[in-house]
Amino acid sequence: MRFHGHPASSFLILPLLLSSLLLDVPLLDADLSSDAHALQDFATRVLHARKLDWDSPTRVCHSWVGITCSPDGSRVTAVRLPGFGLYGPIPRNTLGKLDGLKVLSLRSNYLSGDLPDDVPSIPALQYLYLQHNNFSGGIPSSLSTRLSVLDLSHNSFSGSIPETLQSLARLTALKLEGNSISGTIPSLNLPRLKSLNLSSNNLTGSIPGSLHEFPSSSFAGNSLLCGEPLSPCSMIPNPSSTTSQEPAKALRDGNPDGNRKVRTRTIVVIAVGCSLAIFLLVVVILVCCLKKGDGIAVLKRKEVDVGNVTSKDFGSGVQEPEKNKLFFFEGCDYNFDLEDLLRASAEVLGKGSYGTAYKAILDEGTTLVVKRLREVVAGRREFDQQMETVGKAGRHPNIVPLRAYYYSKDEKLLVYEYMPHGSLFARLHDKGQGRTPLDWDSRLKVSLGVAKGIAHIHLETGARCVHGDIKSTNVFLNQENDGCVSDIGLAPLMTFSAAISRSIGYNAPEVFETRKVTQKSDVYSFGVLLLEMLTGKTPLKYAGYDDIIDLPRWVRSVVREEWTAEVFDVELLRYDNVEEEMVQMLQIALACVTRVPDARPRIDEVVKMIEEIRQPDMKDRLSSGTESNVQTP
Ligand SMILES: *[C@@H]1O[C@H](CO)[C@@H](O)[C@H](O)[C@H]1NC(C)=O
Ligand SMILES: *[C@@H]1O[C@H](CO)[C@@H](O)[C@H](O)[C@H]1NC(C)=O
Ligand SMILES: *[C@@H]1O[C@H](CO)[C@@H](O)[C@H](O)[C@H]1NC(C)=O
Repeated sequence: MRFHGHPASSFLILPLLLSSLLLDVPLLDADLSSDAHALQDFATRVLHARKLDWDSPTRVCHSWVGITCSPDGSRVTAVRLPGFGLYGPIPRNTLGKLDGLKVLSLRSNYLSGDLPDDVPSIPALQYLYLQHNNFSGGIPSSLSTRLSVLDLSHNSFSGSIPETLQSLARLTALKLEGNSISGTIPSLNLPRLKSLNLSSNNLTGSIPGSLHEFPSSSFAGNSLLCGEPLSPCSMIPNPSSTTSQEPAKALRDGNPDGNRKVRTRTIVVIAVGCSLAIFLLVVVILVCCLKKGDGIAVLKRKEVDVGNVTSKDFGSGVQEPEKNKLFFFEGCDYNFDLEDLLRASAEVLGKGSYGTAYKAILDEGTTLVVKRLREVVAGRREFDQQMETVGKAGRHPNIVPLRAYYYSKDEKLLVYEYMPHGSLFARLHDKGQGRTPLDWDSRLKVSLGVAKGIAHIHLETGARCVHGDIKSTNVFLNQENDGCVSDIGLAPLMTFSAAISRSIGYNAPEVFETRKVTQKSDVYSFGVLLLEMLTGKTPLKYAGYDDIIDLPRWVRSVVREEWTAEVFDVELLRYDNVEEEMVQMLQIALACVTRVPDARPRIDEVVKMIEEIRQPDMKDRLSSGTESNVQTP
């Protein structure tokens, strides 16, 4: 239940998930020893800031950093060294000799020079991540035909896009943005291509028709590129003519040639548009017929394939195409995959109502929170739909952003942004060393933030949306020390008992009878949270705390005259002139924890009430008061 770091209890938990997949085979056959040799060759010839410890060749599959072997331990199948401070060129005949290699991730290093063509042409290679280095020269044209992801973005590659990409029938992601690639885009027709980014290069000419359906951001930042989805080619000044003549001017001048060209183009555009529309209509009808009855929404999510984590040959996973994918929500610009997550060093943050939360630090330093959900009752489709709702609802400054999720039969993971200032629970109740208690100003700010977050869930996402598990361990402080609500939208996916048992102190009385959470029960839980914040007492049963569990009942039992002396957190009594505000907040809290659900205010009314606590003239006093408190903690 404690959502704060325990450095002493740091474990590499998540990698354990992987370990079951790697069988121990002590024998070292010839192929493996040549793999080990090639890797050692690489390590000695490439400077690296972080230690690799690739010493004993017999341990290559067991203890070498960044190395994964095939299940039978006969070949190295993955090399992942992201952010290892690798410096300089990759020598030929090192990594290129690993001919069982399927995954190579060397992103976010300082690798430079030509990419030796024996690397991308490793026959088994499926995932090549080299983004954020400084490779230069041309993109090698000999590429493994099994490639599924080719990410060379943010380097200094020049030259043109090789035509041989057309032969990569399995390619799902092609990322070349942020290089100096020039020339025209070859007419690629890759059925599986889902993610394409050629932006910020030096490409010219028109975008081939087969790539029109990608968004304009896939092509932006190439000043001489034109055609759908960018502006039509006629609008771009002709690169060969030095005086950038506008086509409109040519028309005005009555240039018959230009006129005819424009007209022909219009006809072509209309014709293409019409046939596209008809095609789309047919597709829609087909899809509707096929999916009749289940009414599933087409999810607009960014999909990232992950390598063979649990399936032997993921690339040809025809039966269950959605298996083993980490789903990213839009607006997430993180660069990681499921394997990175599983390999991240992780520390247990705490056990929540729905499972265990880990703080995961990726190799390149990104910190995330990964939640392993337990007791999920929802099926795949229901889960997906709920996540879609959550992804949409979650875009609010007072809601902890959910970045990605993973669903399989045995494992459900949610990936959240990490909140460095910890949970409200920890800030209120952790009396450990070096922790400054939250002052009244901060508590007021957090309360208002949380109320706004809940209001967003209740009001912006449709009448049926509830949080269902408001409590201080689900409230986090962001960079601005504003309150953010986490774990939204999970209640409907879980067994009822999972939610109820761990949050007893926060649940409205009617919830135990109806076994249903409502917006009114959310307001009750929020009222308990306010009481917790005001009293400094926890409504949760918690080791080391023998405090009361039913906060509302206890507060009601104290007569009003005694509130200041009895109810309020002693930490808060150190501040002058805040008593009136605290009393007002207590009244709001008591209104929220009214027994009769219909007598409780709506959350948007609560937001208004909290906003009214702070009088304008008091703001000045409090902000100066806060400053002096900082100096004397
Ligand atoms: C990348 O390499 C080029 C030469 O190929 C060099 O001029 C440039 O400074 C390098 N950039 C960085 C960030 O190291
Ligand atoms: C792009 O190409 C043009 C002409 O080919 C050249 O003048 C320009 O310097 C290039 N820009 C970059 C950023 O490479
Ligand atoms: C392409 O990359 C650029 C720069 O990284 C980014 O801003 C843009 O959103 C990306 N577009 C797509 C479609 O991924």
